[in-house]
Amino acid sequence: EKGTYAHYMLKEMDEQPAVIRNIIQHYQNENGEIELTEGVRELVSEADRIYIVACGTSYNAGLVGKDILERIAGIPTEVHVSSEFGYNMPLLSERPLFVFLSQSGETADSRAVLVEVKKRGYKALTMTNVPGSTLSREANETMLLHAGPEIAVASTKAYTAQIAVLAILAYDIARATGKELPFDLMPELARVATIMDSIMAQKELFEDLAERYLKTTSNTFFIGRGLDASVCLEGALKVKEISYIQAEGYPGGELKHGSIALIEGGTPVIALISQPKTNLNIRGNVKEVVARGANACIISMQGVEHENDDFILPHVEPLLAPLINVLPVQLMAYYAALARGCDVDKPRNLAKSVTVE
Ligand code: F6R
Repeated sequence: EKGTYAHYMLKEMDEQPAVIRNIIQHYQNENGEIELTEGVRELVSEADRIYIVACGTSYNAGLVGKDILERIAGIPTEVHVSSEFGYNMPLLSERPLFVFLSQSGETADSRAVLVEVKKRGYKALTMTNVPGSTLSREANETMLLHAGPEIAVASTKAYTAQIAVLAILAYDIARATGKELPFDLMPELARVATIMDSIMAQKELFEDLAERYLKTTSNTFFIGRGLDASVCLEGALKVKEISYIQAEGYPGGELKHGSIALIEGGTPVIALISQPKTNLNIRGNVKEVVARGANACIISMQGVEHENDDFILPHVEPLLAPLINVLPVQLMAYYAALARGCDVDKPRNLAKSVTVE
């Protein structure tokens, strides 16, 4: 039930800190160590490459998961859109492991791939929010997202849950293979939850930003680099689906190779800046669009911030930044949809779970 909340989407965004805490609890033992089932551990220990297969928001979470798996666990990881992968399977490695990301566990495009993968004799792990769902039953193993029911069509808490669970998997693989770990995951996730609380307590600020940048526009860009570029794809998807604004998520450096032609006086460009490695580059990209008249909104993070940024997020490990900087874009999409009089929880043309291919 949505209780006192105006919309399920708002309630579900608000639940994200609790979901992260729930995930920590479910995936650690009494000594605070990550604990996965023997079945999951065996599956991943046999793999030489991971193929993440998913659609929509789950695919966008997979893009973040790929970076975490490669950087922490050192295992090559590819991310594929289900509806493409099933019909155009790339050349596979010798011991592939398929990871299906699906909030509902019922998405037909993803299931079609799972059926094909099993036919070929490969192993599959499903990460889903719904125990007993089709993708969970038909895969060899399941890791649950523990996010609680997600009712709003626009997925929010499942995205952050998927990233957290993928990070836990990456850390477990790293531990098993003796990799050096750059930071302790579980305490950092706990800190992420606290920071999420603080962001959700400042919702009105994002309502203001949505008014200022998105209320009356017909198009917008989200730009970022590296992990921020992946979050930009999710920001653009949220804005498209609930506020019907044409939105593109773009790697900042790629704009000048074509799409910058779309920037004109007043075009809103929302920049996500959390990665120290590319801070200067993305700041340069913001200058390029501002020089062409764009109305730039900068959401940055402590450590890479400039004084005049529109919002400065508290610092977290850059690898986990997507868990934090997706919140402002979810909130801005929500408030933009409200300001434009859209039906936030039930956007036109969309269904919560897509059971046709
Ligand atoms: C977007 C959204 C969809 C789903 C996609 C996959 O907000 O909800 O893009 O992410 O249809 O659904 P699942 O994760 O249930 O397989």
